[in-house]
Formats: sequence, structure tokens, C-alpha cells
Amino acid sequence: MPKDLNKEKKVDPASRVLSLVSHKLKTPLSIINGYTEAILSQLKPEEKETFNAKALGDISKQGEKLAILIDKLVRFSSVSNLTQEDIKKQEVNVKGLFSSAAAACVLRDDSLSIMSSDATIRRQGPSIDIKCPPEATIYADKALVSIALEELLDNSIKFNNNTIKKIKLFYYEEDDKNILAVADNGVGIKEEDISLIFEKFYQVDDFFTGQIEGWGLGLALVKMIMNIHEGTISVRSQYGIGTIISLRFPKQ
Ligand SMILES: Nc1ncnc2c1ncn2[C@@H]1O[C@H](COP(=O)(O)OP(=O)(O)O)[C@@H](O)[C@H]1O
Ligand SMILES: [Mg+2]
Repeated sequence: MPKDLNKEKKVDPASRVLSLVSHKLKTPLSIINGYTEAILSQLKPEEKETFNAKALGDISKQGEKLAILIDKLVRFSSVSNLTQEDIKKQEVNVKGLFSSAAAACVLRDDSLSIMSSDATIRRQGPSIDIKCPPEATIYADKALVSIALEELLDNSIKFNNNTIKKIKLFYYEEDDKNILAVADNGVGIKEEDISLIFEKFYQVDDFFTGQIEGWGLGLALVKMIMNIHEGTISVRSQYGIGTIISLRFPKQ
């Protein structure tokens, strides 16, 4: 038997299905989205208010949403198949991680602004507050931790009805752990749901209707990322007040 076949990784069948389905959906959707964009860009000014133009606009928006959902499935199935040997651990600066994650978030929601904890003037509006010593580092795979922070920030904004969203990214240390935490003033999570939210496809309240954006895979993904790092994830939440999610990385 060729050597490579012996080495082949065992892939969990559910992940294989996820991966196959998402890749098969990607190609037709990118053709639909591509043509829709092309037709929209060729519309003459006098055609822009017509029914057809509005319908195309809606198709384009929904197509983009679907593309994001499919990308998330692809990402989930790729991370599910990673092992310790696949990841690239290195010293990563935490403030840099926080700043890039916050900047990406502001690109998606421009009502937010980024504040550093040493800022003298506090902004009144919605903000992402970063509190982290400049020299703090963790030993981790930078790309994976960025994905984890992106998922947590996404939740802190999505499950937040506050007109002034206040998100905090902060770092601290315990004896043998480095901790990265995301706090929000969002809807909070009921005690009885806390153990369920890490399950694949679980979304509080709306499990059967599919009305909430997303797949309910974000926290399951973050938990997998923490497992690969031999770290842990924990939640503290007060329903109606807000949530803090902490990622604990072992110190080197
Ligand atoms: N910061 C948060 N505040 C309130 N609820 C949250 C928060 N993060 C997660 N949740 C709850 O946990 C569920 C699972 O989260 P997640 O796995 O990221 O899935 P998704 O974002 O696709 O719904 C969410 O549907 C939501 O009900
Ligand atoms: Mg999520």
C-alpha cells in the first residue's frame, strides 16, 4: 500500500457531509451572485427604480447572506478536521489580535468605534473597548484565535438590542493561564441555556424555526479551537444584562 494512504487522516462522516454539501452549494451560488451583480451594474439610471431592479437588489442581498452562511459551514468543517499537528503555534501579541478583530467588526458595523483603555476621553456611543497590556502574548495559532474572537464579537453585537452597544475585549492572567475575554451589554443567556449553547446547531429560543441568522455553530467552533489549544471556554451571563465569555490558554 502506498505510504500516503496509511497516513490519511480519519475524517468524521458528519464533517465529510458538511464539507461536501457546502462545496457543492458554493459553485452554483457564486454563479447566481456573479450574474446578479453583473446585471445590476449595467442598469441605466432610469431603470433603477423598476420592479425588476428592486427584485434583483433583493436577490443580490439574499445571495450574499447565503454565501456567508456557506462560508461558515466550510470553515466549521475545515476546523473540525484539524489536529494538533496541523496548527501553527507561535507567540502572538494579544493587543494586536484584539485590535484586528475589533477593526474587522467595525467594518461590518460602522456605528461602533474602537476605544483603547488608556484613552482619556470616553466616547458616549456604541463602542468596542480594548483593555490589554501592550506586551501580553499567548502561545497559539493566530489565524484560529482570530476566528474565535470574530465569532465572539459577532455574537456580542448580534444578540444585543441595546441602542448603545458596549463591548469590551480584555486580557488578564491567572496562575498558569492567559485569559482573553469578550464582554457585552446584550440580551444575556438564561442559566438553563448556558450548557446548551456550545452544542452544534443550537440557538436559544429559535432552534426549530431557523429565524435567527447563523447556524448555531459559532460557539461549537470556538470550543473546538480552544480544545486544539488545550485551553477552555467559559461563560458568565446575566439574563437581560449581558454576557462575558472567557478563553483560557495555558501559559508556556
Ligand atoms: N453574547 C451572547 N449574548 C447572548 N446570547 C448569546 C451570546 N452568544 C451566544 N448566544 C446564544 O448562543 C447561541 C449559539 O451561539 P452561536 O453558536 O454563536 O450560534 P449563532 O451565532 O449562529 O446563533 C446563539 O444563538 C444565542 O442564542
Ligand atoms: Mg455566533
